[in-house]
Parts: sequence; structure tokens; C-alpha cells
Amino acid sequence: MEINWDLLHDQAKEIMTKAYAPYSKFPVGVAALVSDGRIVTGCNVENASYGLGLCAECGLVSNLVASGGGRLVAAVCVDAKGNFLSPCGRCRQLLFEHGGNGLLFMTPDGPALMSTLLPWAFGPDDLPK
Ligand code: THU
Repeated sequence: MEINWDLLHDQAKEIMTKAYAPYSKFPVGVAALVSDGRIVTGCNVENASYGLGLCAECGLVSNLVASGGGRLVAAVCVDAKGNFLSPCGRCRQLLFEHGGNGLLFMTPDGPALMSTLLPWAFGPDDLPK
């Protein structure tokens, strides 16, 4: 499947401008290509109860499911400057559920596999059928 990394980068930067990050002042945007060709996005949404803030990837996964589901193929996450951002540990797990080991994540060194970002992950296959 063709991955338009520039388009994903543009969409991540655009949704980053919608972030609600008055406490950290660290807006984050993320965009991902879905197996059916659509693009889903998310931004971080913080809270006065600081620990309840939602990462951008949480919004992306919610938008993925709410817009019809599918598998995540490739993702780009950015900070306020548009620089590629490493997803936090919790978000790696959230993304793994919907993309598996083959999900590609853009890094400053080029695309990296989820299996590299989150080796030997616990996931749906570890639960009894
Ligand atoms: N943040 C994300 O949205 N995604 C990440 O993968 C890293 C961190 C957000 C959480 C918080 O709103 C802000 O960045 C500073 O930690």
C-alpha cells in the first residue's frame, strides 16, 4: 500500500493546531493511514485535573473506531514545530491494538516498525479466544 508520508505529516501538523494543551503548552498532533485508505487524526486534550489529559493518539484511536474501524498502516506524530515525536509508552500500546507489529511510525531516522517501538508486545492474541 502506497504511503504518502508528506500528506500524513501535513495532516498531523494541521490537527496539532486544534490541540487543547493550556497546561503543558505542548500541543501534539497525529495522523495515520488506515487499511482502507482513509486518514484519521487526533490531538491532545488536557484537563484541569492534570493526570486526566488525553494524548493525541487517544483521540486518533477514538476517531479510527468511530469512523468505521480498520487497521492502522502508518502514522506520523508531531510537536508544535512539526518535528516528529516519539509516542509515549501508553500510546504505543493503544496503537499496537489497532496496527500490530507491522504499523509504521515515522521517526527522525525514517519509518520504524511498531515491533521496534514496542518489542514483544502484549496484545489481543495473548488473550484466550
Ligand atoms: N502527548 C501526546 O499527546 N502524545 C504523546 O505521545 C506524548 C505526549 C501529550 C500529552 C500532554 O498533553 C503533552 O503531550 C505533554 O506531555
